[in-house]
Amino acid sequence: MRLMIDYRDFVPRQNGFVFKFIKKDNQFIHTYIEGDLLQKLGLTPSMVIGRTVFDFFPQDHARQKERFYVKAWNGETVNYEGSVGDTYYRCSLFPITINSQVVEVNGSAIDITVEKNNEKRIREMEKLSVVGELAAGIAHEIRNPLTSLIGFTKIIKEKITDSSINEYLVIMEDELDRINQIVNEFMFIAKPNETMEIKEANINALVRNVIKFMEPQTNLKSILVNLYFSDKITAFCDPNQIKQVLINIIQNAIEATSESLSIDISLKKLDENQFKIEIRDRGCGISEERLKRLFEPFYTTKEKGTGLGLMVCKRIIEIHNGTIEVKSNPGFGTIFEIVLPIKQKTSKHMIKHQS
Ligand SMILES: Nc1ncnc2c1ncn2[C@@H]1O[C@H](COP(=O)(O)OP(=O)(O)O)[C@@H](O)[C@H]1O
Ligand SMILES: [Mg+2]
Repeated sequence: MRLMIDYRDFVPRQNGFVFKFIKKDNQFIHTYIEGDLLQKLGLTPSMVIGRTVFDFFPQDHARQKERFYVKAWNGETVNYEGSVGDTYYRCSLFPITINSQVVEVNGSAIDITVEKNNEKRIREMEKLSVVGELAAGIAHEIRNPLTSLIGFTKIIKEKITDSSINEYLVIMEDELDRINQIVNEFMFIAKPNETMEIKEANINALVRNVIKFMEPQTNLKSILVNLYFSDKITAFCDPNQIKQVLINIIQNAIEATSESLSIDISLKKLDENQFKIEIRDRGCGISEERLKRLFEPFYTTKEKGTGLGLMVCKRIIEIHNGTIEVKSNPGFGTIFEIVLPIKQKTSKHMIKHQS
C-alpha cells in the first residue's frame, strides 16, 4: 500500500505554505500559493498570485528571493531560509521539467521560528559560558596585584603633602576602584552558583536595606525611592546575591533618571509559591532595539559602563529559578519585574561550597 501524504493536510500542520511560479516575459510570476504561514508573514493569496516578489516584498528582500528563483529556473533544487519580522521560514524550490526544459517551479516553506529562537538562546548561553571561563582566569590573576596597588596608593596618598601629586593619586585611586569593580563583576560571572548560600530571608527588610545603602547616590540627584508592599515576605534565597541584583537594577535606574524624579519599588506575594519585585523608574527608557541586547555581556550605552550589571542579574535570578523581565517606554521610563520562588528546590546549589 502506498502511503499518501496530501500536502493540503501536511502544510497547515507544519505551519507552512506551498506555492508555484512560472517565468513569463522575463519575470517570475506566482501562479498559486496556499498555507497557514502566509497570514503570519502578512500576506494573502491575492497579494501573491499573478504577481512577482517585487510586488509584495521590499526591494532588497525581493532581489535576494529572485536570485533563488533564477537558480531554480536553471534546473537546481534550491533551499534557503528567510525572515519577515520575527517570523523565520525555511523554503525549498523544486523545478518541474518537461523535455529537459523547466516549465514551472514548485515551492514549499515551513515556519522555523521556534527552532531559530532556540538556536539563538543556545548561542547566547555559549557566549556566556565562554565569558565565564575567561572571567575566572583573568579575575583571579588580576585580584592579587590589584590589592597591593590599591593598598600602596592609599599609603602614598597619606604620606605625600605635595598637592599637585596628590591630584594624580586621587585619579589613580578612582581608576583602581573602577578596575576593582570590573574584576569583582567578572569573578561573579565565573561561577555564581558555587558561592551561593541559601538562607531564609526577610525580603521586606532586604529591600529596605538596599534602598538605605543606595541613599548617598539617590540623595545626590534628589531622587526619592518609594517602597510599596502589602505582604510580609520571607523566602529562601542567597540574600547577598539578591541584594546585588537590586543594587545593579537600582543603580541603572538612578543613572537613567533625571534629577528630582522618583523610583518606585513594589513587593508583592503572587501566591503561596512566588513573589514579585518591581522596580519602576521615570528615566530615559530603552528602545525596542536596545531591549533585545540588554542582558548580553558588555552591552552598554554608557561611557564608563561595563555592560555586565544586567547579565549578572540574569545569572543570579536564573540560578534562583526565577525570571526577570523588562518593559520600557522610551522617554517615559522602565520597569524591571523579578519573579522569585519562595522556596528553593533542594539542589546542589543549596550546599554551601567553601572556597
Ligand atoms: N533603567 C534603565 N533605563 C534605561 N536604560 C537602562 C536601564 N537599565 C539598563 N539600561 C541600559 O542597559 C545597558 C546595560 O546595563 P548594565 O548591564 O547594567 O551595564 P552598564 O550599567 O554598565 O551599562 C545600559 O548601558 C543602559 O543602556
Ligand atoms: Mg549597570
